[in-house]
Amino acid sequence: MADRIEELRKLFRQEIARITTPEELEKLRIKYLGRKGLFMEIFKDISSFPAEQRPKVGELANRVRNDAFSEWNTKKKEIELKKEEVKEEKEAIDITLPGKKFSLGKKHPITLILDEIKNIFVSLGFRIVDGPEVETEYYNFEALNMDLHHPARDMWSTLYIKEGVLLRTHTSPVQIRVMEKQSPPLAIIAPGKCYRRDAVDASHSPMFHQVEGLLVDEGVSFAHLKGVLTHFCHRMFGAETKVRFRPSFFPFTEPSVEVDIQCVICAGKGCSVCKQSGWLEILGAGMVNPRVFEFVKYDTKKYTGFAFGMGVERIAMLRYGIDDMRLFFENDRRFLKQF
Ligand code: PHE
Repeated sequence: MADRIEELRKLFRQEIARITTPEELEKLRIKYLGRKGLFMEIFKDISSFPAEQRPKVGELANRVRNDAFSEWNTKKKEIELKKEEVKEEKEAIDITLPGKKFSLGKKHPITLILDEIKNIFVSLGFRIVDGPEVETEYYNFEALNMDLHHPARDMWSTLYIKEGVLLRTHTSPVQIRVMEKQSPPLAIIAPGKCYRRDAVDASHSPMFHQVEGLLVDEGVSFAHLKGVLTHFCHRMFGAETKVRFRPSFFPFTEPSVEVDIQCVICAGKGCSVCKQSGWLEILGAGMVNPRVFEFVKYDTKKYTGFAFGMGVERIAMLRYGIDDMRLFFENDRRFLKQF
């Protein structure tokens, strides 16, 4: 009998050693230690032994069974621990790995320059207004003193949506829209996109930005125009910058000028950017043509005003030393992240 008990111990130990899951362990418990298990069978057999032999084998069987119990418990804890470890391993965060990089967005250089331009004029009391990019011929041309057959319309290669409706070629139509709604005094700027049928190259783009300006009041003179635009150039390009006003022509201003700043690249000595002239054109301007006032029914005897329009890409190129306008619209992050 003692041999059978020892044999059972051996078998139990062999089996338990191979167990890895709680399910197998439970099966093992039922097989050996359960109410109908192998140990119970031994106890049953012992009860049929002669009385004097029973205590000895009984004691051995009890000991082996108790051992088996505690071995089973140890195994159970082992398996639970293992399970916990595996779980922890799966959920573990490796804090030694570098974190995922995310890059913060930045303002586009055109937006940065637009913000600067707006700040300068707002600080002078100008109000910012908006106008539609899809315009009628009336606002884009006619009310700006360019009737259908005016040769000046040739200055703008226009993109038409349909008969009489087009993508605005400049921000000047906003002047008309504002004056139709508001009587003087007024001082506004109108930043926004413009469109022309131009092929893309280093200095042309079919879409570009302008900032329009308009100031109307009693007694506004050319001196005011010069003062405001000189102040603007000094704030934009530095107080030392030389500014030049050159006679020009626009149908909606009279007299008209083009405003140049001394070349920021060569300081006026002459280079390829300023085409050896030492000067760079940055905006068009002039005294509002009384014929424009007639379109919006302003009293031409009482009011005068000045208007100006500047190209934002051009100003940005000069400020940042960029020689190709295409860079603004390609959205190459290597370019954009430099601002
Ligand atoms: N609209 C003109 C252009 O696009 C610029 C301008 C605006 C000139 C206002 C005079 C007055 O070239």
